Amino acid sequence: MIAPSLLSADFARLADEVQRVATADWLHVDVMDAHFVPNLTLGLPVVQAIQAVSPIPLDCHLMIEDPERWAPGYAEAGARNVTVHAEACPDPRAVARDLQAAGALAGLAIKPGTPLDAYLDVLTDFDTLLVMTVEPGFGGQSFMPEVLPKVREARRLVATGHLQLFLEVDGGINADTIAEAAEAGADVFVAGSAVYGAADPAAAIAGLRAQAAAARG
Ligand code: DX5
Ligand code: ZN
Repeated sequence: MIAPSLLSADFARLADEVQRVATADWLHVDVMDAHFVPNLTLGLPVVQAIQAVSPIPLDCHLMIEDPERWAPGYAEAGARNVTVHAEACPDPRAVARDLQAAGALAGLAIKPGTPLDAYLDVLTDFDTLLVMTVEPGFGGQSFMPEVLPKVREARRLVATGHLQLFLEVDGGINADTIAEAAEAGADVFVAGSAVYGAADPAAAIAGLRAQAAAARG
């Protein structure tokens, strides 16, 4: 699945920008609070407005502190998937439960320096694992191939039936890097600048999807 990140869109024209990626699978919405990450983007009222006009399901990536308090609101707003950061979450299982009770898939994100092993137990309660392939906070950064062993390990655990998860990668995904991430086992690919920076976003989405499919075999 290809999930264009709205972070690279024109924020003054959000309804039009959503339509430009209508052929994608999920619309990735980066919520940042200027505390968990050194950047501030948008919050629930804007997500509700986007949800009302989006032709594709929303994938909300919450880079915020206190996710147990704020995350359920995004699920109640109708987001398909809501992802919280493990580093901000003392009790990830409780958040997963609340998100699923509100009708969303529950995602757990880990930063590049956060090991996967610490979360293998709680991940049995989640639907999505988001492996950050850049430090969260900004679009347009370079892909970090050194985090791919975590994707490989998670894919192995899905293949053996220990986990049942979408494996999402986020950060620096473009035509030069998506094959590597797909070979490692990712199946959801967030792409901000590679889609919104393209002259034809629909063509960029189709190109990325074809490259990922070819690499996954
Ligand atoms: C970064 C965000 C990403 C970002 C990706 O913290 O989580 O979703 O928008 O942008 P690109 O694809 O440009 O790296
Ligand atoms: Zn993101």
